[in-house]
Amino acid sequence: MPPSIITVQSVGTQQQLVINPPEQGLTLQGNLTIPGDKSISHRALMFGAIALGETRIQGLLLGEDPRSTAHCLRAMGAQISELNAQEVIIQGVGLGNLEEPSAVLDAGNSGTTVRLMLGLLASHASRFFVISGDASLRSRPMSRVVKPLTEMGAKIWGRQRNSLAPLAIQGESLKAITYHSPIASAQVKSCVLLAGLMAEGNTTVVEPALSRDHSERMLEAFGANITTDPEAKSITIEGKPTLKGQTIVVPGDISSAAFWLVAAIIVPDSELVIENVGINPTRTGILEALERMEADITIENKQIIAGEPVADLRVRSGQLKGAEIGGDLIPRLIDEIPIIAVAAIFAQGKTIIKDAAELRVKESDRIAVMASQLSKMGANITERPDGLEINGGGELKGTELEAYNDHRVAMSCAIAALKAKGKTTINGAEAVAISYPDFFDSLRQICETQEI
Ligand code: S3P
Repeated sequence: MPPSIITVQSVGTQQQLVINPPEQGLTLQGNLTIPGDKSISHRALMFGAIALGETRIQGLLLGEDPRSTAHCLRAMGAQISELNAQEVIIQGVGLGNLEEPSAVLDAGNSGTTVRLMLGLLASHASRFFVISGDASLRSRPMSRVVKPLTEMGAKIWGRQRNSLAPLAIQGESLKAITYHSPIASAQVKSCVLLAGLMAEGNTTVVEPALSRDHSERMLEAFGANITTDPEAKSITIEGKPTLKGQTIVVPGDISSAAFWLVAAIIVPDSELVIENVGINPTRTGILEALERMEADITIENKQIIAGEPVADLRVRSGQLKGAEIGGDLIPRLIDEIPIIAVAAIFAQGKTIIKDAAELRVKESDRIAVMASQLSKMGANITERPDGLEINGGGELKGTELEAYNDHRVAMSCAIAALKAKGKTTINGAEAVAISYPDFFDSLRQICETQEI
């Protein structure tokens, strides 16, 4: 029996992930399925809850974030069956019919839950809501959604001039607006479109760059009238549609696949096939970035399932080259930047990630945290105000790391540890449950089903 490469131990309420790769001979092989897309899972639950009739969701992500969304929706009268990946059944309440909850809505760690939900709640006239979450969520900026909603006539109060949760919302009849968002954020766009559902007339959002378009696709499938102008980067929704329950098939999350893509690239002689991955063009920035870095990835079995493109991704190890990543590509790979930083450590030459200041207000300050954790391992990585600069070609050594309550930091550090010399310990690794509850099992599966 070879020594275990992956161990997970409990330390109080936390979990410590210990990764001890062999000095040589580790290769990653096999096929992997990944959990459902987080963004699509949130939306399927929310839109199912406000539609009329029954919605069925297959492949829902069973992570903590969608659980927070389901929990809030149940507190407002939506009937949602027990969450499982086979099929979740929702009996929707119909547009405008969410009930006033008797307690504070708890969005946990989930920015998507609170920001999208605000758009829904603000339009529920004569009902009062309070929404909050964990310490990380209570420090994340909410003025980006409070501002357009207030323009629509919403009444919202919160800490620090209505910019931080807990937030209190007095539902009002809203008016349609055209909103020029200063940031390319799907959460802001979706919030305004959801508020527009209940406004009289057309609500338009114009973005500086295209962000993920799952809301538009799915709202249209539920019966909303949506028009998009990709040139102008604008999306318009007509108020007061009849939304009807649908069957949603959630594809695998490309943001979760990204960890295995990079793992297979950096661990020599590896080949992985990641099955059933959502490849919506507003999410495939990671494939473009890795292609620029000369990675060997092929897209196989491409098909459209329930309105979203899906494929298997075959990835083989190889030598990466440094690249510059910025501009309009950033919103299309925003959640993958921590793992791109790991890839860049093993690339030849310099990688610059810019235009990504948004990373500072995610579940953690991902610029500062990735720079500090990867530096501890010996990487040549420095912070920029809007990104990271990484000089590749170095070697990593195992050490003790912190996940800072951030699922993507925990998983990125774990992948870096596969290529480090010696043992790495990641404290707070339970954070992976936010978006990838089976992460440790998948990691074991690809590392330990082989002769070493
Ligand atoms: C999300 C949008 C992104 C992303 C987040 C999920 C969504 O945030 O980082 O993990 O589901 O709409 P922003 O829209 O704020 O960039």
